[in-house]
Amino acid sequence: MQWTPPINPKRFHLEKLLAVRGISLDWLNSGDADPHSPANVARYSIARAAEIIPFHYRDAIADSPEVLAWVAELAAEAREAQAARSAPVAAITHGRSLLMLGPTGTGKTHQAYGAIRELALTGIAARWVVTTAADMYAALRPRHGIDSEAEFCRYRDASILLIDDLGAERKPTEFTEEVNFRLINWRYEHHLPTLITSNLVPKEISARLGDRVTSRLIEMCERVVFKGPDRRRGEAA
Ligand SMILES: Nc1ncnc2c1ncn2[C@@H]1O[C@H](COP(=O)(O)OP(=O)(O)O)[C@@H](O)[C@H]1O
Ligand SMILES: [Mg+2]
Repeated sequence: MQWTPPINPKRFHLEKLLAVRGISLDWLNSGDADPHSPANVARYSIARAAEIIPFHYRDAIADSPEVLAWVAELAAEAREAQAARSAPVAAITHGRSLLMLGPTGTGKTHQAYGAIRELALTGIAARWVVTTAADMYAALRPRHGIDSEAEFCRYRDASILLIDDLGAERKPTEFTEEVNFRLINWRYEHHLPTLITSNLVPKEISARLGDRVTSRLIEMCERVVFKGPDRRRGEAA
């Protein structure tokens, strides 16, 4: 783990998150020069998270109990594995997945990026790969000069993966079905934590994603359903 100098909480939109979680800035910026201290891992992770979090969600704070419970469970398992292996740093390698369902605008993506910030602040190392399903299919389309299998492995092997808006495309194609199956099956078999958002309602999932993907998702994921108005339209709750 690389040593990361003290960070400015304003730059990473941390003031509110630190206050809500009761974490002091003194702790976050502590740790002498020990690159393995949880505080250093937290600073490093916060800086990495800021590189992958879109501007719109840069100050997101997860407040869904299910999302926070999922993050806490991953963190606890990472600490147990660290103790068992006497590893210098706790890192996410395996764990359950989380499926966030709900209509457009109910806050799924906000919770997802909030979860990334949350995990970063716990001082657990996590190498996230983040994508929307649509961007992933676009990146994987076979085309000249691109090794799409190598690109696929980047998603497949991520130690922790966010797939935003799975099942949102109007019409599944053979190509998207094959990507979904290969990706979910691999992550299921290898017990790799995956955060998935979708605006499908539970009973649409199997029609959209197919029985083989759905059955694996049911086994590997905790599920949380978001309800309420579209927050983008500012509709009254
Ligand atoms: N807990 C929250 N606090 C403040 N703003 C939120 C919260 N949840 C969502 N939003 C805002 O509401 C809008 C819709 O949320 P988003 O997460 O993008 O919805 P979804 O991914 O479900 O379509 C976005 O502008 C987002 O920033
Ligand atoms: Mg979204």
